[in-house]
Amino acid sequence: MASLLVTGGAGFIGSNFVAHWTATRPGDRVTVLDLLTYAGNRANLDGLPAELVVGDIRDEALVTDLVQTRGIDTIVHFAAESHVDRSILGPDAFIDANVLGTHALLKVARKQWVDTGRPHRFHHVSTDEVYGTLGPNDPAFREDTPYAPNSPYSASKAASDHLVRAYHHTYGLNTTTSNCSNNYGPFHFPEKLIPLFIINALHGRHLPIYGDGMQVRDWLHVEDHCRGIAAVIDKGRPGETYNIGGGAELPNLTVIDTLCAAVDAAFAADPGLAARFPDAPAAKGQPTATLKSFVTDRPGHDRRYAIDCSKATAELGYHPQHSFESGFAQTLKWYLDHEGWWRGILDGSYMDWVKANYDKRAAAR
Ligand code: NAD
Ligand code: DAU
Repeated sequence: MASLLVTGGAGFIGSNFVAHWTATRPGDRVTVLDLLTYAGNRANLDGLPAELVVGDIRDEALVTDLVQTRGIDTIVHFAAESHVDRSILGPDAFIDANVLGTHALLKVARKQWVDTGRPHRFHHVSTDEVYGTLGPNDPAFREDTPYAPNSPYSASKAASDHLVRAYHHTYGLNTTTSNCSNNYGPFHFPEKLIPLFIINALHGRHLPIYGDGMQVRDWLHVEDHCRGIAAVIDKGRPGETYNIGGGAELPNLTVIDTLCAAVDAAFAADPGLAARFPDAPAAKGQPTATLKSFVTDRPGHDRRYAIDCSKATAELGYHPQHSFESGFAQTLKWYLDHEGWWRGILDGSYMDWVKANYDKRAAAR
């Protein structure tokens, strides 16, 4: 039986991972350490057999206590500031959480595990954004692609990846790192493209497309990501990094057009939606696409990400199971079925920041 400490486990991917792990390994003990920042949400863990400890990964005394009292042998490290737009407006929080926070965890792990000779694993969850941006014909990111982060967010994640690598190389900490592409799915915080646009479409608010909308991302359903992380923890070689992708490279405009058409189809199929969301264009027989609005581009916006995950396929047997079409349909249904979850967030003050930010961009266009 393993005892996991899942940092950031009340966020989007972390909570999906806790759901995946506890369903597939019911004998294991799972402790979540989460600061419950604006992006963390107790409700994401409702009904899951995991203990939530509210606290900061930078609190070394707390992490030490958890490792000792819960007999932690595996850290799965998700906790981070994760939104590129916020990192452009305020990079400090990203250095604090992503760089200093990761280093605090590594220090505790070294002391508690390496210095005592206890078997362990430190799995670090990172991003494809550390590799920078690709031209239209460039080969996809591989694990040996040189790092070239372009935003304060990706630079802070790159720094944390390097620290993890150094703790393996110098101190012999048993680490693995995974770098993945854009996740989507249930519990995705509505500051990110897909959930923001679904909720805006339901409210008749504009869909703010940055620049020309032809930036390309590789969309990875969060359940596939969680399966990939579990495979790395099970079979990944110490000190190695693994890319995890969704095999669904799409320009933003294609994602947005898919989303608009799916919302229109959902309203056509269920007349009850028009009563629940009377401000949606689809409630009035108008296409959702009328909400599309091109706004000022994100500064330093990476043009294209693409993941080569052949190493994870060859070594771990990793294959994404969701196509974008099936994964997106499931996701839209989840947002329509879980209005209470996102209403709870919309009622919080953070969404005021989101709205003000997008309205400013729209006005500047
Ligand atoms: P998220 O923003 O939804 O969740 C982050 C969680 O970390 C929140 O619950 C927050 O409360 C917690 N947290 C932040 N600072 C903390 C601190 N100092 N101490 C304890 N908890 C803290 O993020 P996400 O989208 O679930 O991303 C999880 C991880 O995956 C991040 O490391 C991110 O860089 C990485 N990642 C995300 C994506 C994606 O598409 N979302 C893709 C690649 C990599
Ligand atoms: O690639 C992995 C990364 O994916 C993760 O490391 C990050 O944590 C995660 O947030 C995500 O970063 P992106 O910047 O790619 O995700 P976001 O949803 O913010 O944006 C996706 C694309 O959509 C991007 O090209 C910017 C664009 N966009 C986004 C928003 C929020 C818009 O055009 N309009 C918007 O309002």
